[in-house]
Amino acid sequence: MSADVRNIDALSTQTRRYPPPEGFAATANATAAIYDAGLEEFWAAEATQRLDWATPFETVLRWEPPYAQWFLGGKLNAAYNCVDRWVERGHGDRIAYHVVPDDGPAAAGCRDLTYAELQRHVVRFANGLRSLGVGKGTPVGIYLQMVPELPIAMLACARLGAPHTVVFGGYSGKAVAERVADMGCTVLVTQDEAMRAGRTWPRKANADEGLAGGATQVEHVVVLRRTGADVPMQDGRDRYWDDLVADVSDDPRSCPCEPMDSEDLLFLLYTSGTTGKPKGVVHTTAGYLLGAATTHHYVFDLRPESVYWCAADVGWITGHTYIVYGPLANGATSVLYEGTPAHPGRDVWWSIIEKYGVDILYTSPTAIRAHMKWGPQYAQAHDLTSLRVLGSVGEPINPEAWEWYRTHVGGGTCPVVDTWWQTETGHILITRLPGVTTLKPGSATKPFPGVDAAVYDDAGNVVGPGGGGNLVLRRPWPGMMRGLFHDDARYRESYWSKYPDAYFAGDGARVDEDGDFWLMGRIDDVTNVSGHRISTIEVESALVSHPAVAEAAVTGRADHDTGQAIVAFVSLTGDDTGSAELATTLREHVAQQIGKLARPAEIIFAPELPKTRSGKIMRRLLKNVAEDEPLGDTSTLVDPSVVETMQAQVARAARDD
Ligand code: PRX
Repeated sequence: MSADVRNIDALSTQTRRYPPPEGFAATANATAAIYDAGLEEFWAAEATQRLDWATPFETVLRWEPPYAQWFLGGKLNAAYNCVDRWVERGHGDRIAYHVVPDDGPAAAGCRDLTYAELQRHVVRFANGLRSLGVGKGTPVGIYLQMVPELPIAMLACARLGAPHTVVFGGYSGKAVAERVADMGCTVLVTQDEAMRAGRTWPRKANADEGLAGGATQVEHVVVLRRTGADVPMQDGRDRYWDDLVADVSDDPRSCPCEPMDSEDLLFLLYTSGTTGKPKGVVHTTAGYLLGAATTHHYVFDLRPESVYWCAADVGWITGHTYIVYGPLANGATSVLYEGTPAHPGRDVWWSIIEKYGVDILYTSPTAIRAHMKWGPQYAQAHDLTSLRVLGSVGEPINPEAWEWYRTHVGGGTCPVVDTWWQTETGHILITRLPGVTTLKPGSATKPFPGVDAAVYDDAGNVVGPGGGGNLVLRRPWPGMMRGLFHDDARYRESYWSKYPDAYFAGDGARVDEDGDFWLMGRIDDVTNVSGHRISTIEVESALVSHPAVAEAAVTGRADHDTGQAIVAFVSLTGDDTGSAELATTLREHVAQQIGKLARPAEIIFAPELPKTRSGKIMRRLLKNVAEDEPLGDTSTLVDPSVVETMQAQVARAARDD
């Protein structure tokens, strides 16, 4: 199919409209009136009814740009709101998580964890952590796969008032150590090995390798036995999880929930920015928890009988907010799945939905495109009629994937919610509400109630309908980041320097005649691969750390499956001109330095990188080369022939594919 035909297809799907399904609006959690309240009024009412406070708040919002504080004077505990209060209210037998192991829903390892059981596990682990000296304010690093002990560890920290940082299980030991050292964690919680797609993967070994190279302040490593593999344990530092909790009480009174100030740190989550160093995004207790719970309730139209499944990883913000804090704060029943979409078979997702009667599914466009590629027969082989609401997050969803999701997964009737947000925003900000909004495939539609979003041009004027510009947020919202850890200057520079009066999200967007938002991807040096942000400079630094590499420039090119793919342009030291073997070595080197998710899809060797006369690498040009687009003006280049050599290589690589 030619690009033109595809574009016309996309345009025609984009003009389709889907009003809320009949009957849905009448009983939905949100009605059109939800948009009527003022911003502070909306959030204050939610905060009063949705959360339990040890001390009620006095001031809804203090806004001293660029820092917001919400619900001042209030005290509460996130773990109490997520766990204990449900048990106290008589819902201890309600299932918090249907735990599905890597081998899928037919495996023997499936188990259900009720709220009462969750409470006992959290109390025991909190007591275990206490015996290691963890208390209010002690930072704890967590490097676990999608096992139930991951939310348990997070909640145990929250119970004690100990802020956590979770490092995605796919990151390298070096990346773990860097984050843990930055936060000053004295305790790291990890596991012997991970199970993914029927295979074991090292975790403790990664952590050891990382800790050996840095993060020397780590005094204790707690190791969960997942596979039972024999992993080296360092005397005096390392303890097994089960040994740590063997003799401690699981009585909640033995470890009361620490009342925290609204603005006390709940966690840091590191994310990629436009420089190599990851940013420690700060999230505090009350506002974050409220934003998570409120959006989860309305956006997914959560019912008391719902079985909800967010198929993301807890290691990312999506999992923090929509697997752990949001659903638990709403007392919901969720699926917690350890595995991947293709193991033990390509229908594993659909068999999970069928087995548990999942009514809400939240996933990413990349996952939907993978299912699309495999074909609808896998979904068709299962009863998916329990599904009511489908969500998407992480990257712009192309209208074709939107339609496929609605038709083949949602039986042609389920509303598909495209939700826009970021690690920094803490929770969903632009989204449709299933009983209210008329849907348009490809559009995230409207700002959530209590959220003020707009599109600005470079001069800070609001762009009219149809025009493209930068997505901004003009008023604070409860879950917004409270800065970057120990880096006020970078916080101001990254988010508040472009416009004096608005948060700059780093995404391009346009608003149409109906006031609906269309997201158009990152406008900075951040690539979005399968919905995960990877800074191009981080990958460049990893490449340059290899002795064969003199210089590297990294860019993202559009990719049908993963949204974007990483392309690295590399010039080598000495006379080396590169080879397929070296390309493989360099790709693995990046995987080792950062993690597999950052491994370049393609490496293009070039004797020199295209530079302007002032010595700057022309990234725009590299992107055009990578995407095989016209180059535009190359007159500022020192040596335009450099680019022609690269273009020839890209063309050759495409032919070889
Ligand atoms: O570019 C936007 C894209 O993902 C970025 C945020 O990435 P991260 O902090 O890793 O959080 C991902 C999960 C919330 C955004 O700046 N993005 C996220 N959701 C969407 C999206 N782009 C378009 N449409 C979305 N629904």
